[in-house]
Amino acid sequence: MSPVGIGIVGVGVISDTYLENLNSFPDVEVLILGDLIADRARSQAAKHGVPAHGSGQDVLEHPEVQLVVNLTTPDAHVEVSSAAIAAGKHVWSEKPLGLDRDAIATMLDQARTAGVRVGSAPDTLLGPGFQSAKRAIAAGIIGEPLFAQTAFQTQGPDLWHPNPGFLFAHGAGPLLDMGPYYFSALISLLGPVDRVAAAGMKAKQEREIRTGPNAGSMFTVEVPSTIQVLTAFEAGTQAQTLLSFDSALERHGILEIHGTDGSIVLPDPNQFSGRTAYVKPLGVLRDGMSFDQPWIEVEEQGTVVGRGLGVLDMVRSIASGRPHIASGELGHHAVDVLLSAQESAASEQFVKVESTVAPVPLLPDDFDPFASTL
Ligand SMILES: NC(=O)c1ccc[n+]([C@@H]2O[C@H](COP(=O)([O-])OP(=O)(O)OC[C@H]3O[C@@H](n4cnc5c(N)ncnc54)[C@H](O)[C@@H]3O)[C@@H](O)[C@H]2O)c1
Repeated sequence: MSPVGIGIVGVGVISDTYLENLNSFPDVEVLILGDLIADRARSQAAKHGVPAHGSGQDVLEHPEVQLVVNLTTPDAHVEVSSAAIAAGKHVWSEKPLGLDRDAIATMLDQARTAGVRVGSAPDTLLGPGFQSAKRAIAAGIIGEPLFAQTAFQTQGPDLWHPNPGFLFAHGAGPLLDMGPYYFSALISLLGPVDRVAAAGMKAKQEREIRTGPNAGSMFTVEVPSTIQVLTAFEAGTQAQTLLSFDSALERHGILEIHGTDGSIVLPDPNQFSGRTAYVKPLGVLRDGMSFDQPWIEVEEQGTVVGRGLGVLDMVRSIASGRPHIASGELGHHAVDVLLSAQESAASEQFVKVESTVAPVPLLPDDFDPFASTL
């Protein structure tokens, strides 16, 4: 069998890492890149040895493309994904899956009717760091989970992104840009969310682009650049979450679950592994022993790759008929939670989350991205 044909629509900043990883997996082959900016598609195709390039429509019309990877900006996600489904393709979308609950639900219905699958970033949930932690929690290492804390605080992506305006516009901000990592992780561990309450603020009304050809120009901040969320899960567990682009103290990737028998510190949910210099290794503190708790390291198992893992899991799941992990339904529930938090910040009330999601499965034990399954 030949590798599954992939086409990518939107080849900006994040496309390099996708292309490097997808090109390293024997089960898939990137056949074409498309972008609104023709030069960008051409230069990325040349850089990564992709045989064809053109517009987004060219990608959808490519007869050998079976799965479209949608790396456009959030405002274009549903439109591009829906067009890909209409063209009979499976779709992997960068996060957030969309910006409107009803539009996402309609798109998921469209995919069901068409018999194609939808997957949604983040696929960090498939990395060995998160998977090992999830296995350890399922095996009872902290007893029954009770509550969680997560924190992401930075100076903001205007420090490093050459085109940061969209990250402070409707559909982004720390809530919708970074929230998908933290909330997808929490939902995967603690199950669906029942209700949320949030408070948000803007530190500045305008910010400056700091790097690239537009450095020095100003842009308007449209959404809260700091938001704090209180989450109640259907199972009775709770979480508190800080998401900020306004902190001089760079501290991110904090994800802790506290249970009846101990507390587990997970790797950064925006990373695939805890084996990085700035992330504490996956570990557990046991409860009820002494004030000075011994730190127990949990062994991280699996191969570390990066973005593109969710695409590979989709391709293999389609072939074997199992559900894929970073599903459209998970992406939909995560966006519903985030939009509910946004609404709560505006209304100053708890907001009930209407959608739900089935338990999120673990990756198969023997999943090896580099071993061909063809
Ligand atoms: N930059 C990161 O570090 C990062 C990390 C993880 C996820 N993401 C996500 O990836 C997505 C893209 O982010 P980015 O930083 O690469 O943005 P970017 O602005 O650098 O690139 C987006 C590209 O999509 C193209 N595009 C937009 N609409 C299109 C359309 N309708 N048809 C064809 N092309 C279209 C743009 O021309 C641009 O080249 C976002 O959803 C973002 O949240 C980014």
